[in-house]
Amino acid sequence: MASSASHHVVLVLLLIPHLAAAASSPSASLAGDLLGTARDPGFAEWMRGLRRRIHRHPELAFQEHRTSELVRAELDALGLSYAWPVARTGVVATIAGGGGAGPVVALRADMDALPVQEMVDWEYKSQEDGKMHACGHDAHVTMLLGAARLLQSRKDDLKGTIKLVFQPAEEGYAGAYFVLKEGVLENVSAIFGLHVIPDLPVGVVASRPGPFLSAAARFTATLTGKGGHAGGPHDTIDPVIAAASAILSLQQLVSRETDPLEAAVVSVTLLKGGEAYNVIPESVTIGGTFRSMTDQGLSYLMKRVKEIIEAQATVNRCAATVDFLEEDLRPYPTTVNDELMYAHAKEVAEGMLGEANVKIRPQTMGGEDFAFYAQRAAGAFFMIGVGNETTMEKVRPVHSPYFVMDEEALPVGAAFHAAVAIEYLNKNQCA
Ligand SMILES: *[C@@H]1O[C@H](CO)[C@@H](O)[C@H](O)[C@H]1NC(C)=O
Ligand SMILES: *[C@@H]1O[C@H](CO)[C@@H](O)[C@H](O)[C@H]1NC(C)=O
Repeated sequence: MASSASHHVVLVLLLIPHLAAAASSPSASLAGDLLGTARDPGFAEWMRGLRRRIHRHPELAFQEHRTSELVRAELDALGLSYAWPVARTGVVATIAGGGGAGPVVALRADMDALPVQEMVDWEYKSQEDGKMHACGHDAHVTMLLGAARLLQSRKDDLKGTIKLVFQPAEEGYAGAYFVLKEGVLENVSAIFGLHVIPDLPVGVVASRPGPFLSAAARFTATLTGKGGHAGGPHDTIDPVIAAASAILSLQQLVSRETDPLEAAVVSVTLLKGGEAYNVIPESVTIGGTFRSMTDQGLSYLMKRVKEIIEAQATVNRCAATVDFLEEDLRPYPTTVNDELMYAHAKEVAEGMLGEANVKIRPQTMGGEDFAFYAQRAAGAFFMIGVGNETTMEKVRPVHSPYFVMDEEALPVGAAFHAAVAIEYLNKNQCA
């Protein structure tokens, strides 16, 4: 089963240049040409080199100084102008085609790495202790630089302006929100983003119209009572019981208060109490995440998480403070793909990769700060396969310390980005 699926993919890939050449659609042949250029050995090797340099020196949210410098050096080499710093380390390049007229479309890549110790032994293993590009943002940056090169070489034929957004801090710190705050994307009418996914092979992309990735937020709460000797509980006010009641009550938000046909999650992941067997602690801290496939669902959960923890504290004679950490860890809205932009990117991908290699992707409860852009402009976010059944024994998901990717996906991402932007400008000329 597994091996026949992989043969099928290889066969389809081999056929693509012929399909593209044979297809009458100009969009299919443009996408095919871009993919051919990006797969040219010199071009592909340049991309591999970039990805490996970034992979070796991962940087956490808002600390992407070295990555930002690499991005600017490559943009300089291509002769592209850019705004920097945007939200501390971000870079927003502009390719002004169409003689300054025409629509503005944006392509986005995130630059930050994760606090994960890489466990893969290879030549370009992370040199930074406890940091790793385990979510493939090194590939995202590289794909967008590849697109920059493809687009710059066709600059004279562009029917509008393309913004290339290299943003900081996607992993929990809402870099996209801060990029938007700086106004550099104010005239953008559509935006597209890609995310690597190891459970799909190279040459396959996937997404869905409408709500795609969940809205997500966090909470922490401290329940305070009165500590004392565990042998005399009547002289104490026990915050352990209050926290236990609160945790159990929180479970009913999904089971009793959420429409069974709607998706929501409440997970308590953090629990800190006392230090000794015979001491009732003064306070207990709990924390976790809650998610919903709608923004209203997230607001509802936020209101109820606070009410439940405070009420359970009161019932148990404790006091509670609930904090949603919104200053540092701004909640992410639902990532909603615009139906038309989804259809546009899907059509471009089908022209480039063949219909069988463009899949519908199920919704997942992972959050993405691309959601902030998609609230401002018509957006579409796609997963791009980086798996390879021949060379990888098993799929290591993103965020795993064993995460690996097939770098053959880099040219596919670059060409997909470039083709989506060019065709968007072609289709959206003002009357
Ligand atoms: C957006 O368009 C307006 C009007 O053309 C222009 O004045 C402004 O500079 C543009 N903003 C950006 C960030 O390009
Ligand atoms: C998987 O890797 C093998 C060996 O490098 C390669 O021949 C094949 O084309 C790759 N498959 C895909 C889907 O890229």
